[in-house]
Amino acid sequence: MEFSSTQSTNNNKDNNMAKSFTFANEDMPNLSTKIAIVTGGNIGIGFEVVRQLLLHEATVIMACRNQQRMDAAIAKLLEETKVPPEKLVGLILDVSNFASIEQFVTNFSSYV
Ligand SMILES: NC(=O)c1ccc[n+]([C@@H]2O[C@H](COP(=O)([O-])OP(=O)(O)OC[C@H]3O[C@@H](n4cnc5c(N)ncnc54)[C@H](OP(=O)(O)O)[C@@H]3O)[C@@H](O)[C@H]2O)c1
Repeated sequence: MEFSSTQSTNNNKDNNMAKSFTFANEDMPNLSTKIAIVTGGNIGIGFEVVRQLLLHEATVIMACRNQQRMDAAIAKLLEETKVPPEKLVGLILDVSNFASIEQFVTNFSSYV
């Protein structure tokens, strides 16, 4: 996986100068002291982000709105990455629902 982006800089010398950069998996440092929260991690881009964080030894909180889809994604990621199960924790979160967000914060606070 490689990310690439172009950002506008905003300095006095050259207001419209564009600065581009790429970020590849190999650029990711060891993340064994970090806890990452990934929303939308059960599929697509979020799933791949979780995979790469696990492969770089982060502890990952996968925050998804659907328990079944989250459980299936966790099982698949544990199988593929072979990381210990305690490195990948699933917590329910629907980002469109304030009550769900508050509950997620409570659950996350008791996890850490
Ligand atoms: N954390 C993030 O910022 C994040 C994560 C992933 C994707 N995205 C963005 O989504 C777009 C498409 O990416 P994709 O191809 O990977 O899309 P995708 O395959 O459709 O996945 C989108 C993810 O977002 C989840 N999601 C959608 N609404 C949600 C809500 N209200 N609460 C919690 N989770 C919700 C989906 O969960 P369900 O399976 O339950 O529908 C799914 O896991 C891109 O623009 C990408 O930047 C952002």
